Amino acid sequence: MTQHQRLLIIDFGSQVTQLIARRLRELNVYCEIHPYQKVTDAFLTDFAPQAIIFSGGPDSVTREGSPRPPKSAFTLGVPILGICYGQQVMMQELGGLVESGHGTAEFGRAYVTPTERALPLLEGWFQDGREQVWMSHGDHVSRIAPGFEVYGTSPGAPFAITADPERHFYAVQFHPEVHHTPKGAKLYENFVRLAGFTGDWTMAGYREQAIEKIREQVGDKKVICGLSGGVDSSVAAVLIHEAIGDNLTCVFVDHGLLRKGEAEEVVTMFRDHYNMRLIAADESDLFLGALEGVSDPEVKRKTIGKLFIDVFQNYANQIDGAEFLAQGTLYPDVIESVSFSGGPSVTIKSHHNVGGLPEKMGLKLVEPLRELFKDEVRALGRELGLPEKFIGRHPFPGPGLAIRCPGEITREKLAILREADAVYIDQIRKHGLYDEIWQAFVAILPVRTVGVMGDGRTYDYACALRAVTSVDGMTADYYPFSHDFLGETATRIINEVKGINRVTYDITSKPPGTIEWE
Ligand code: XMP
Repeated sequence: MTQHQRLLIIDFGSQVTQLIARRLRELNVYCEIHPYQKVTDAFLTDFAPQAIIFSGGPDSVTREGSPRPPKSAFTLGVPILGICYGQQVMMQELGGLVESGHGTAEFGRAYVTPTERALPLLEGWFQDGREQVWMSHGDHVSRIAPGFEVYGTSPGAPFAITADPERHFYAVQFHPEVHHTPKGAKLYENFVRLAGFTGDWTMAGYREQAIEKIREQVGDKKVICGLSGGVDSSVAAVLIHEAIGDNLTCVFVDHGLLRKGEAEEVVTMFRDHYNMRLIAADESDLFLGALEGVSDPEVKRKTIGKLFIDVFQNYANQIDGAEFLAQGTLYPDVIESVSFSGGPSVTIKSHHNVGGLPEKMGLKLVEPLRELFKDEVRALGRELGLPEKFIGRHPFPGPGLAIRCPGEITREKLAILREADAVYIDQIRKHGLYDEIWQAFVAILPVRTVGVMGDGRTYDYACALRAVTSVDGMTADYYPFSHDFLGETATRIINEVKGINRVTYDITSKPPGTIEWE
């Protein structure tokens, strides 16, 4: 199997370590993030990185027992880039000095100016004699290590950019991975070029390797895959199908809480177009029956989650000799990042997934997307020929329309909600806004309001439109539609959807709201 060049990111606990990986992947460089505690001499030898990056972190190198990289990182003979805490730890370990405070803490935007010396790392970097960067440090380097020179300074960081070009050790006080360092990507580009990376991490290459790996892992055994119609499970299914054909069986459970036309689309795509073995289970009576009279959001979520697992297990049991369960786990779910916050966080919502199922059923896991970020999954989907409709789709929660129908769920309300949602999404697509929005949907409200249509009085449901922008769903802003768009959409929904006579627009951001209504 061809091996790609690998870069190792040692995580010292910065909030933005994942962004370093994103920037590198965008350059077609394969990298992995590992917490500093795990990176021992043996780990380094085994990983065999072609370059290393030390991330930032919240600790102070002046504190005894603070995080350190293994000494052998410096003798491997590979280029190293230290960022913020990573710079300070590099200086300290190589004979420089780091001090705390003394009025030189810097948080936020700053400008770095070059010194007289040229450095290939900074090629094409400084414009108009300075460059904007993002600083976030309390400590600062007060004496650089032997062999290093200064290549950039800022008012709060006289050693903003330092390097020992002979050993290819580079260290910067700012964060090139964040948006507020506009030319940060260029710095990473120069670094990986200097380290000899050829940009060999491509989706075509990944597809080939992943297929080989699945065949190796699974052999001639059978695999079950829960298909939801979302991008992750769709891409995982198509990839595994390409590797093992009919030894893959997909199970698609229709819980009666899907959007308009969704179940048919999934069946047509995977059974008819891709010729996959697909069990399409219409279990809407079972789910909607169990949800009758339930209005508490957590009870709804738990009821659906538990039933889903039971139903999935029943169908999976019918597949003779299945030994593996496929899951669309992504890289952000498996990164063991260093957490300094400690303690369990509160449960805001019980998420719906099939975790725990493999152990219960004695199945082994196949997770072909474990190394990928979301946008890489999309790129792989395109590589595999999945239509844009599946790839570019907004996220859709496991409990489906149940959590967009506050209060009791009835078939009548679901039918109205489906129609209103379809009109809303059609409007968004027609106006060319779909790809700008992270997620958009309608929620049907548990109130009826009075209206007047023609000469008659109406007494129908009110609905709320929701549309947000977000990077990862953790925080979100409401989408600033024009008043014209909102007016036109409200008119269309009221005219085209029987059962709704009032439309509102939800302008809550997350936090304090959540994206879904429940
Ligand atoms: P909230 O509503 O918590 O949602 O702001 C954040 C993102 O997660 C999605 N979501 C879910 N996805 N199972 C899922 O697979 C769930 O139970 C679930 N609940 C919320 C939500 O649609 C948004 O993208």
